[in-house]
Amino acid sequence: MATMESLIGLVNRIQMACTALGDYGGGDQAFSSLWDALPSVAVVGGQSSGKSSVLESIVGRDFLPRGSGIVTRRPLVLQLHQTEGGQQEYAEFGHMPRRRFTDFSLVRKEIQDETDRVTGKTKQISPVPIHLSIYSPYVVNLTLVDLPGLTKVAVDGQSESIVEDIENMVRAFVDKPNCIILAISPANQDIATSDAIKLAKEVDPSGERTFGVLTKLDLMDKGTNALDVTLSLSLSHTLTHARAQKKNSNENDDGSYRLQHPWVGVVNRSQADINRSVDMIAARRKEREYFDTSPDYGHLASKMGSEYLAKLLSGHLESVIRARIPSITSLINKNIDELESEMDHLGRPIGVDAGAQLYTILELCRAFDRIFKEHLDGGRPGGDR
Ligand code: GDP
Ligand code: NA
Ligand code: MG
Repeated sequence: MATMESLIGLVNRIQMACTALGDYGGGDQAFSSLWDALPSVAVVGGQSSGKSSVLESIVGRDFLPRGSGIVTRRPLVLQLHQTEGGQQEYAEFGHMPRRRFTDFSLVRKEIQDETDRVTGKTKQISPVPIHLSIYSPYVVNLTLVDLPGLTKVAVDGQSESIVEDIENMVRAFVDKPNCIILAISPANQDIATSDAIKLAKEVDPSGERTFGVLTKLDLMDKGTNALDVTLSLSLSHTLTHARAQKKNSNENDDGSYRLQHPWVGVVNRSQADINRSVDMIAARRKEREYFDTSPDYGHLASKMGSEYLAKLLSGHLESVIRARIPSITSLINKNIDELESEMDHLGRPIGVDAGAQLYTILELCRAFDRIFKEHLDGGRPGGDR
């Protein structure tokens, strides 16, 4: 099997090193932002649109803090590593690399605690990411960034500026041409008012780096035509069954926002499921049943659901990274030069910590440069598919 680290895994290690050095896109870094050059998948949507549920479905684990209000207050960089069958699943945080979490309720608690460590208990937000890796035979190689939900009103003790602060933080991610946008929109609301789609339309007008995810399909009542609207916004060839349903839709294709990738519909656990502690395995089974038996989906059933979404994103992220290797390596080389001159320049007075960090990233850059070259030279790396 794979002797070479997956490209997605490599990129994540660079991102983690970047964060340690204060480079998380917009930070005050001493070198050209590598973070900005690295492709990533950002999860975007309004509050309660189903972002956390989608992430948990993709992972197949229940591990994210939940509740009303603004729960996600720092970006969570979630890296999934597929391991060999039979191995135990565990999670590891960037800020406590030596501790393996096998109890996922403790993962949830640590995300909460680590959020509070930086933001205080004041419910403020911070752009400094938390890095979480999950090792499991049941996941695909994929890195996703969970972001605070877009909101329109400040709640309990949060400053008025929080609405704008959140939007700015989300924008800082999705503005980057290398950011793949996972736009989460609930099917029981008008897609035209979806916060995620509104933002995606602004920053990605051609719809080439946005994947639309439609949650809560099970809550869409027969009278509404959210599916209709979504389908008319999508590429027609992927969603042909919409045509039949489209007869009384006023949606006009002209001027509407078209995504270049097909929408993926999902059915996550409902609040009642969560209250009854329906586990993720049962939830996936229920979702699969929903698509396999619903008369609306037919041949599209195999292109719907969380497992399909995970595979789609993993394949896409890997191909985008592969295409960007030349520009990533040239930026890495530029950084090597900058870091070397920075270390020369700083000379002795440099603090031990800062010096060690620069040295660490320099070593990492050199290693990545070498490994990326191997990926380029070797064509396809062994067994990372
Ligand atoms: P977030 O605020 O965007 O992270 O949203 P959550 O994932 O926390 O979901 C908000 C609420 O919607 C929760 O009560 C979920 O159980 C519920 N929910 C999310 N997705 C679905 C879905 O596909 N179907 C149903 N019935 N409920 C869902
Ligand atoms: Na929420
Ligand atoms: Mg959430």
